[in-house]
Amino acid sequence: MIGRALQRNEVASVWDIDRREVIDNIYYLVDGKLDLRPEHYDMRGWPPNAAESTPMLLDCYDRGGWCYGLFDASRLVAVVMLESKFIGKPADMLQLLFLHVGYGYRDRGLGRQLFAQAAAVARERGARRMYISATPSEHTIHFYLGLGCVLSPAPEPELLALEPNDIHLEYDLYEGSR
Ligand SMILES: CC(C)(COP(=O)(O)OP(=O)(O)OC[C@H]1O[C@@H](n2cnc3c(N)ncnc32)[C@H](O)[C@@H]1OP(=O)(O)O)[C@@H](O)C(=O)NCCC(=O)NCCS
Repeated sequence: MIGRALQRNEVASVWDIDRREVIDNIYYLVDGKLDLRPEHYDMRGWPPNAAESTPMLLDCYDRGGWCYGLFDASRLVAVVMLESKFIGKPADMLQLLFLHVGYGYRDRGLGRQLFAQAAAVARERGARRMYISATPSEHTIHFYLGLGCVLSPAPEPELLALEPNDIHLEYDLYEGSR
């Protein structure tokens, strides 16, 4: 497995990552608390309109976002992207915009590794916190909580409006490390 920064023309290759996942439980935020409910999805791949998000990912790249991939031979199998624009009050937070590990490569530490690398870059760039608008599936939320992320006490209004069903999390880059 080789890890390296993505070239601009490789950003759209994120949609080549195998997105298969069977989801059995979904988290909801109810009265400020996480509530796990049975809900079944057999995801056979990316949603049909996923590629519509490519311009957003390219904007992140062009603004100086950190875009990094893991390659198995020449195949992109995992990606992490960190925004460059500071958000929050105070503006000390960088958004972890994208983190995906392909089917067949999960649960072997790659997500943890990419998260730690993004956290190191965020610290180097002067951030105190990372913000994550997380897919509400049980597996994903357990992953982030296990790394020390917590519910955002003040979700970013713009990001909440974009993904109202996501679970909005924060990670303290100096106290949250596990
Ligand atoms: C969520 C995701 C990034 C995690 O990456 P991963 O490579 O599968 O996770 P890792 O193997 O690095 O797991 C890291 C830690 O989380 C823990 N973990 C993973 N899945 C877990 C689960 N279902 N319940 C509890 N802990 C879990 C692992 O035990 C591990 O802890 P450890 O290092 O102490 O053993 C990956 O599964 C993924 O891309 N899923 C689909 C897409 C997605 O949801 N992306 C995030 C969008 S916000």
